[in-house]
Amino acid sequence: MITLGIESSCDDTSLALIEDGVRVKASLLSSQIEVHKRFGGVVPEVASRKHLEAISPLIREILEMGGIGFEKIDQVAATTGPGLLGALLVGVAAGKAIAWQRKIPFIPVHHLEAHLGAGFLAQNRPPAYPFLGLIVSGGHSNLMIARGQRQYELLGRTADDAPGELFDKVSRKLGLGYPGGPAIQKAAAGGDPKRYPLPRPMAGRGYGFSFSGLKTAAIRVLEEEGDRLSLPDICAGLQLAVSDVLVGKVDAALTEHRLDRLVVAGGVAANAVLRDACQRLAAARGIELLIPPPSLCTDNAAMVAANGFFTAPLWKGETLFANALADWQMGDDLPRWHPGGRE
Ligand code: KG4
Ligand code: ZN
Repeated sequence: MITLGIESSCDDTSLALIEDGVRVKASLLSSQIEVHKRFGGVVPEVASRKHLEAISPLIREILEMGGIGFEKIDQVAATTGPGLLGALLVGVAAGKAIAWQRKIPFIPVHHLEAHLGAGFLAQNRPPAYPFLGLIVSGGHSNLMIARGQRQYELLGRTADDAPGELFDKVSRKLGLGYPGGPAIQKAAAGGDPKRYPLPRPMAGRGYGFSFSGLKTAAIRVLEEEGDRLSLPDICAGLQLAVSDVLVGKVDAALTEHRLDRLVVAGGVAANAVLRDACQRLAAARGIELLIPPPSLCTDNAAMVAANGFFTAPLWKGETLFANALADWQMGDDLPRWHPGGRE
């Protein structure tokens, strides 16, 4: 069975064809990073317009890459939320149009739930439950127990900035540009992570996160140090502080909930220091760790198509009524939408 996946929730337009939910037949991505770079972050209106320009040619291209025509697609899955509303609308409208024209199922996909499946997709296997999930991206820092498809128990989230947001903001202050995570990782090479003492906010205090204090502390260091600042040392210190906080809470949750499988996902899971720390934790505890390769950590449509394949049986009724939902919560049903408004 072939699932077409569409991702357009932020600044990447991505399309993928997945076979039986576990094999990537074709995958492509058109990044808007160059466009948003000069603003230091994603501009929502610009993102929607760029998605609109990109989507039709990319649909043709993905079919060519997969060597198939429209008639071979069995179902369409599109990221329906959460994300930027205008950006989401482009992917959802394209997906529904194909589904309606071809009379095949349309599957609304939750962006974060899709991120959690990427580690399994990387191993060409269906998700296995239960597991402890950590999603760390530009917009999220969530720790949860996954008990089954669309069944999540949230343990904690960030009270303010997400870790990717912290990297992006500090990177801008350091003049390293956008996106900040990869730039900070590169600049940290050879740095001493202990040179500048940075706080570990909320460490040892429940499962909630807070990263804005860490951002303020890092910015204070660079203001105080001025010309003396060592870029590798501050970047290395920041990565280690983020990783320490995240891994500390993961460790506590694995113990409290007696879980032996850990899934780490989202753009920040591409970070080498965090990956290393997770690998060491998993080895020390003797648990299974699923972290996708960096290309499947950041936004991509392969994870969306895979998630669509596994969640398709859970959708009852006419999903063509589904519409983009910027603040869709994990595990929640979508409200039914009608031309006249919300039911
Ligand atoms: O999941 P994602 O592609 O988009 C969403 O936010 O949904 O994550 C993007 C975030 C950005 O904030 C970016 O700076 C961060 O992931 N990121 C990284 C790395 N690569 C991307 N952060 C740390 N280290 C990286 N190597
Ligand atoms: Zn994402």
